[in-house]
Amino acid sequence: MVALALGLLALCSQFLSFSQAGAYPASSHSHANVSVLSKPRPLVLWHGLGDSHSSPGMMRFADEVKAIHEGIFVHSIYITEDLDEDRKAGWFGNISAQLELVVDQLNNIEELKDGFDAMGFSQGGQFLRAYVERYNSPPIHNLITFGSQHMGVADMPMCEPGPGYVWCRLARRMARGGVYGAWAQANLIQAQYYRDPDQLPVYLSRNHFMPDINNELPEDYGLSSSSMAPITGRNKTYAKNLQSLNKFIMVLFTEDKTVVPKESSWFGSYAPSDSLRTGDGGEGQVVLAEKTIIPMRMQPVYTTDAIGLRTLDERGDVLLETCEGEHMVMNRVCWEGLVKEWVGGST
Ligand SMILES: *[C@@H]1O[C@H](CO)[C@@H](O)[C@H](O)[C@H]1NC(C)=O
Ligand SMILES: *[C@@H]1O[C@H](CO)[C@@H](O)[C@H](O)[C@H]1NC(C)=O
Ligand SMILES: *[C@@H]1O[C@H](CO)[C@@H](O)[C@H](O)[C@H]1NC(C)=O
Repeated sequence: MVALALGLLALCSQFLSFSQAGAYPASSHSHANVSVLSKPRPLVLWHGLGDSHSSPGMMRFADEVKAIHEGIFVHSIYITEDLDEDRKAGWFGNISAQLELVVDQLNNIEELKDGFDAMGFSQGGQFLRAYVERYNSPPIHNLITFGSQHMGVADMPMCEPGPGYVWCRLARRMARGGVYGAWAQANLIQAQYYRDPDQLPVYLSRNHFMPDINNELPEDYGLSSSSMAPITGRNKTYAKNLQSLNKFIMVLFTEDKTVVPKESSWFGSYAPSDSLRTGDGGEGQVVLAEKTIIPMRMQPVYTTDAIGLRTLDERGDVLLETCEGEHMVMNRVCWEGLVKEWVGGST
């Protein structure tokens, strides 16, 4: 997920040469009254793991959006303004508490009061979806997520050299102490969207974030709810709010090896491994087949319409897009069309 910043940087050096070549001439002001009457809808960004709200990559990305949609207001979500602390908050904290800060932040920005489009990078994508489901005031119009983990991750993200490497290693080491333990669930962000398909009962009862925002119930998986005390019912507000989106666009990176499994970016997850034992490697050894993916439209969260995803999809408002490459390698072809079409519409 650290690749996000690197990808953006790679992409931005490309941009620089484009703009030097005059690809963005100052636009004519003869239609000034048009832009006054129809200001582009504002945009909110939520950065990914290993990045911070105003890293060079995030700033340049915002600048590129502004070059496409003249006059657009862009806000980059932060947990704390200090860049190193903000990066650290991608690993350490309680995501529900962080969301409460974000709601306050967004409500104090005058430009956002009539709503906005939002783009979430990597884990920022499922956090923005949680914002929609739990709050959505001011409302999100189009939500675009890049390489996000909508069905969680079945493995902790690998650590790559770069800013935040130390925090990443520390978080991984601490997660080994028990990803579903009380401490990890209160303090390690990735633990709060860790979803092991072979441990669904413990995931459902101990994880306070992902089963909640996905409105998952034990009976969805043929499990009895009696042993899982905190689980009550589905929260209907979540479905109502998600359905209020104009478009929900999910981008998957075709070569993503950071998000496990990468199909989580489209609400896919691994099937429990019981169903994978397909043969016998001789000498009584069980050979595991390549892991099976349960795609979005076969997930209980979809079939039961637990969060309104099915309604949104049947209405034609869920778009599943791909970008070529490894996690968060944001080539221009990856995002430009989406930004032109679904960001900065007139209000
Ligand atoms: C912009 O101003 C011109 C001249 O006053 C007017 O004819 C035109 O209708 C205006 N455009 C809009 C969208 O109001
Ligand atoms: C459902 O979610 C809404 C919005 O976050 C919240 O206000 C409400 O308390 C929740 N209801 C239940 C039963 O948890
Ligand atoms: C996380 O924060 C939320 C919101 O402040 C709080 O209700 C919840 O108890 C916290 N969770 C844990 C595990 O501490």
